[in-house]
Amino acid sequence: MSYVPKHVAFIMDGNGRWAKARNLPRSAGHKKGSQILREIVEYCAEIGIQYVTAYTFSTENWSRPKEEIDGIMSLLEDYLDDAIKKSKKRNIKVKVIGKKDGLSNSIINKIQELESKTKDNSGLCVIFAINYGGRDEIIRATNKILAQIQSGISYEITPEIFSDFLDTKGIPDPDFLIRTSGELRISNFLLWQLAYTEFYFTDKHWPDFSKTDLDLALLEYVQRKRRFGKA
Ligand code: IPE
Ligand code: IPE
Ligand code: MG
Repeated sequence: MSYVPKHVAFIMDGNGRWAKARNLPRSAGHKKGSQILREIVEYCAEIGIQYVTAYTFSTENWSRPKEEIDGIMSLLEDYLDDAIKKSKKRNIKVKVIGKKDGLSNSIINKIQELESKTKDNSGLCVIFAINYGGRDEIIRATNKILAQIQSGISYEITPEIFSDFLDTKGIPDPDFLIRTSGELRISNFLLWQLAYTEFYFTDKHWPDFSKTDLDLALLEYVQRKRRFGKA
């Protein structure tokens, strides 16, 4: 087994609690969190991880106060702008999964620009889950299949064919999932794709998560015995 997982997925949780513990507004936690993501992505590229998926905004996160949502969206735009600027220099390929409806045109355009500018890059592939919900993704895939069947194309639906209708088409399932901030749940993240993923939970809040914390998690990963149902 390779020592470094091919695909690591992150549920970056705890920005709000990190800020609260410092008497700061939640927005300060999100800001620091986005900085940490930049660092962790660079480190993942350095150590040879091939795919990183970052849970950035869930379909349920719309139920937060408008002010908080606006702040997260504005940080997201900054992140996209920065990544667009660096897209030629860095060999990172970016993909976004999730529902486009509900996102601003400005964000949708930036996502398209970044995906197209980085599509031929051969280095680390970074997948941002934005306005993403596992149930929503599965339902959207099902509706795409239904539309094709109604137009006369017939399928025998297998797990492989179904996977090709998901936003993650062509991306291998995560080997390792890391959730920060102590919650022991997956919160509607990658419901289909996490079928055989190894899970790792840490009490550290995302804005405190460091390269050393990732090393510690990876050390645990290499000791896991993945069986995939075999004896
Ligand atoms: C994760 O941190 C960021 C998003 C969900 C957008 P939270 O904002 O959920 O922080 P906590 O869980 O309230 O501490
Ligand atoms: C999951 O975190 C979503 C993201 C990290 C983007 P939440 O903070 O929204 O999850 P719950 O509400 O604690 O389950
Ligand atoms: Mg949270």
